[in-house]
Amino acid sequence: MQHKELPRIIVAIDGYSSSGKSTMARRLASAVGYRYIDSGAMYRAVALYALENGMVSDSGDVDEAALVAALPRIAIDFEFRPDGSQHTLLNGRDVETEIRQLRVSSIVSPVAAIAAVRHDLVAKQQALGTARGIVMDGRDIGTTVFPDAELKIFVDASAETRAQRRFREMMEKGNAVSYADVLANVVHRDEVDRTRKESPLRRADDAIALDNSEMTIDEQDAWLLEQFNRTINSL
Ligand code: DC
Repeated sequence: MQHKELPRIIVAIDGYSSSGKSTMARRLASAVGYRYIDSGAMYRAVALYALENGMVSDSGDVDEAALVAALPRIAIDFEFRPDGSQHTLLNGRDVETEIRQLRVSSIVSPVAAIAAVRHDLVAKQQALGTARGIVMDGRDIGTTVFPDAELKIFVDASAETRAQRRFREMMEKGNAVSYADVLANVVHRDEVDRTRKESPLRRADDAIALDNSEMTIDEQDAWLLEQFNRTINSL
C-alpha cells in the first residue's frame, strides 16, 4: 500500500513571556521532525546589539533613532545543530547565552516595540517559513508573521507561575537574580507587549487557547501533539 505523503505545516505558538511556549514548541518540533524557530531570540539579539553599542542609557532608555539607523548593520542568523538546538548569531557571533540574561530581558520589550525593528525581523521570520515544516514561537506569529498558519496556539499561565519558571531556569543557569525582580520583569513585559502600537500581543481569532498553569510538561506535549495530528488529518 502506498502511503500518502503527509503535508508539512506551519505551527504558530504565541503567548506571554515565560508561558512555556518555547519548551512546547521545541518538543513538538523534535517529535514531528520539524524545525523549531524562537522568534524572540531575534528581538533579544537586536536588544543586545543596542546594549553593546551604547544605545541604551543607564536608566534603560533605548536610542531608537540610532538603533533604526544601525539596522542594516545587524545580521541575525540561526545555526541549527544536529541535536535540534538553535543558536542565535549576531553578526556571526554566537550570542545564545548572552541574550537570555536579565540585562537583555529588561530592555527587549521597548526594542521589540520599534516598528522598523519589527518589519525587519518579521520579513526574516517569513523567509524562514518558506520551507514549511516549522514550529515558530513568539508574540505575533499567528496574527502577523504567519496569519495562514494551519495550527495556531495561544499559551497563557498566571504571571506568578511564569515568573517561577523563569526564576528556576535562570538559577539553574547560574544567574544570580531575585524572584521579585523576575516577577516585576514578567509583569512589565506583558504590559509593554500587550499595549504596543505595532502588532501587540493578542490571541488570533482562530488560535486555540491553552492555560498550562496546572499542566506538566508531558501533559502539555500530549495535548499539543493531539492538536498537531488533528490538524494534519484534517488537511
Ligand atoms: O519570548 P521572549 O521572552 O524571548 O521574547 C523577547 C521579547 O521579544 C519579548 O519582550 C517580546 C518580544 N517578541 C515580540 O515582540 N514578538 C515576537 N514574535 C517574539 C518576541
